Amino acid sequence: MRKIKRIGILTGGGDCSGLNAVIRSATKTAILKYEIEVIGIKYGYRGLFLGGENFINLDLPTVSGLLPTGGTILFSSNKDNLFDYTYEENGITKHGDVSHVGIENLKKAGIDALVVVGGDGTLTSALDFYKKGVNVVGVPKTIDNDLSSTDTTFGFDTAVHVATESIDRLRTTARSHSRIIVVEVMGRYAGWIALDSGIAGGVDVILIPEIPYDIDVVIKHLKTNLQRGKDNAIVVVSEGAKSIGGEVVVSRIVENSPDPIRLGGIGNIVAEKLEDAVGLESRVTVLGHVQRGGIPTANDRILSTRYGSAAIELVMEEKFGNMVVLLGNEMSSAPFEEVINKNKFVNPKGEIVETAKSVGICFGSAEE
Ligand code: F6P
Repeated sequence: MRKIKRIGILTGGGDCSGLNAVIRSATKTAILKYEIEVIGIKYGYRGLFLGGENFINLDLPTVSGLLPTGGTILFSSNKDNLFDYTYEENGITKHGDVSHVGIENLKKAGIDALVVVGGDGTLTSALDFYKKGVNVVGVPKTIDNDLSSTDTTFGFDTAVHVATESIDRLRTTARSHSRIIVVEVMGRYAGWIALDSGIAGGVDVILIPEIPYDIDVVIKHLKTNLQRGKDNAIVVVSEGAKSIGGEVVVSRIVENSPDPIRLGGIGNIVAEKLEDAVGLESRVTVLGHVQRGGIPTANDRILSTRYGSAAIELVMEEKFGNMVVLLGNEMSSAPFEEVINKNKFVNPKGEIVETAKSVGICFGSAEE
């Protein structure tokens, strides 16, 4: 095999705090430790398909100062799967597997190995490229922290931090106006952001997908608090929460996305029911993408630095077809096949949920 002289790096899927820190770390490790060149591929797999000016040189000055910046200087796309791709050619819309074009562009650019930073959809494509002979390694990315193969993903800590700070700020209005404030947070089908920010923010109720709720249990809890003199409440609701026997609330369908369902709207439903039954005015704050943007926490900067650097180590060890993971406090790796589509959910009976219950947080479950 040709010695690795030049690597490519691309970011796919939704943005997330710490992506730029990963790009910086991978680039610095490649250049400073191994003296290999780094090519950034803009717009994820779309840039890989388009080639040309979407391939940019990443040198030390380009990545300098990136550590605390949000987003990705390489931009991202959560729609472009080159194995099932819609594109324009001579004014005609075409559809099909164009992965060979991406592979050709890598060859043209002299790229010996590719580092792919992304979520499940992006890493599934990475596996498909690996099967076609591309030297590819992965770095997992999601604020949802729902990948079973790795203890924590970068971006999660920042999302929890943002949600916690928001809860702290919203509490002042809840108290001043004797209101219930429902805070809807992201997380897709996993309740990690809601659970962690809810505990950190000392809220009254946490509703997560893993524990379908009975609204009457929540109402009873808040009424009891009211009788004890607490005339305000913060309720954190994960976007994927649902009532017992109910369905998740879908806000939109994004065509061409590997997972087209976008969740959202459960906060309003919960707030409406609580206002009437508890008798306190309610408001809803949907945190949305503020959880993904902006300055990463110190922990996420460190984690991103470790992930980026570990990705280059994987490349140099020629452990292609693998993804960097964090196990305990050690960076390690796992084959794509073992990690894709395997989610990690909150254990409804686990220690962290029990701890939250013991400090009076209600999950709305039937047995409470
Ligand atoms: O997976 C990350 C995430 O932010 C989820 O928490 C959320 O459901 C989804 O992405 C939102 O996606 P979009 O940016 O397409 O609205």
